Amino acid sequence: MTDVVAAPPGAAAATGSEPLLRVQGVHVVHRIRSRKLIGHGNVYALTDANLSIAAGETVGIVGESGCGKSTLAKVIVGLQRPTEGAVNFRGTSLWEMSQKQRARQFGREVGMIFQDPSTALNRRLSIAKIIADPMDVHGVGSSRQRRERVQELMALVGLPTSVADAVPGQLSGGQRQRVAIARALALDPALLVADEPTSALDVSVRAQILNLLMDLKDRLGLAMVFVSHDIQTVQAMSDRIVTMYLGRIAEQAPANDIPDRAYHPYSRALFSATPSLLRPTEPIVLSGAVPSATNPPSGCNFRTRCWKATDECANALPPLTRVGAAAQADETAEPLPLHEYRCWHPELPDAPSDAAEPLKTDSTDTHSANTHSADTHASDAQSPSAESLNAESLNAESPKAGSLKKEQA
Ligand SMILES: Nc1ncnc2c1ncn2[C@@H]1O[C@H](COP(=O)(O)OP(=O)(O)OP(=O)(O)O)[C@@H](O)[C@H]1O
Ligand code: SF4
Ligand SMILES: [Mg+2]
Repeated sequence: MTDVVAAPPGAAAATGSEPLLRVQGVHVVHRIRSRKLIGHGNVYALTDANLSIAAGETVGIVGESGCGKSTLAKVIVGLQRPTEGAVNFRGTSLWEMSQKQRARQFGREVGMIFQDPSTALNRRLSIAKIIADPMDVHGVGSSRQRRERVQELMALVGLPTSVADAVPGQLSGGQRQRVAIARALALDPALLVADEPTSALDVSVRAQILNLLMDLKDRLGLAMVFVSHDIQTVQAMSDRIVTMYLGRIAEQAPANDIPDRAYHPYSRALFSATPSLLRPTEPIVLSGAVPSATNPPSGCNFRTRCWKATDECANALPPLTRVGAAAQADETAEPLPLHEYRCWHPELPDAPSDAAEPLKTDSTDTHSANTHSADTHASDAQSPSAESLNAESLNAESPKAGSLKKEQA
């Protein structure tokens, strides 16, 4: 399996230097008791995930409910231990550290924001105490320095000093999420992981929180992993987008390549489900339900819903295909932004090509050469800017499991 340093399009981070965080061949399997399965069964929550995050990069993770987005987010922040595989932070393996070392070194560098701020915050503590908590736990600074830092963080996230002594129940949902963000930033992390940070909020405050996150990311130079059902928001927030399906990463692409130059049929279907005024597309409606994570289909796990599926798709997992790999094979060449996918019969890009043929990059390529070649392109379509985030765009319906249907071709 080939892994590539994720980097924002055109940024220096694409140089192949050690990424901030690297997830390598990670599987997460939950053992469950199930009456249906008579005894125990396995839930394959994450399968062979490979992802690298460069300093300052924002990676968006999308996919239908249950596809493993939160599991991957938890693996990244060290809340979920992989059943198999490795997570390296600044080149050091997370799960080879002692628990103390992990908390001391890694815990300080990574902050997490959860979906629902009302359950993520201790209801009995004051706002000032909640924000100071990570500093207390890690013994950072004197008590005066912590008080000052709390004030600084409250100002940074737009909280009035008047709420310092309030408890979470006295704040609005948007203010509570600002508290959660301030707490996540308390130790000056290098990476912020936000799992559906706005889905529990009113539409009217979603844009404010998203704009705050974008602003903080730029001001503080944070790397960010952003998980959401809201495709348009993910496009606006991210440098790169990871599409997941049934526990697997189906495609990773620079945000500018989505949706016109998405190769994986599932990416096409997912992104077509959120209409855009700039790029009106016919929604691709998928038929059938998402298969069970206890018994995923053989070969390509999307084959039971894919309109392009053939016997080949059932027989073997498609190899990883990296777009623009031919150029990347020349080590002296300027590295291209990462774009890779797994599909035997990829969609052809809507936009014209101007670069290299894709190249398969791993040993799962047991079949003959991919006859459905596609090309690499310089990105010319821009994803919506941060400024374009507004309440209206955030109100778009998110695709839910089973809601995508495609007529059989
Ligand atoms: N502790 C657990 N025990 C058993 N199964 C689990 C556990 N946690 C997650 N799963 C299963 O793993 C799969 C992936 O779950 P995950 O929460 O990562 O999905 P998700 O993409 O975040 O979904 P959503 O969009 O609904 O939040 C699902 O099938 C889920 O039911
Ligand atoms: S490998 Fe086959 S089933 Fe899977 S997405 Fe590609 S065409 Fe569809
Ligand atoms: Mg989730």
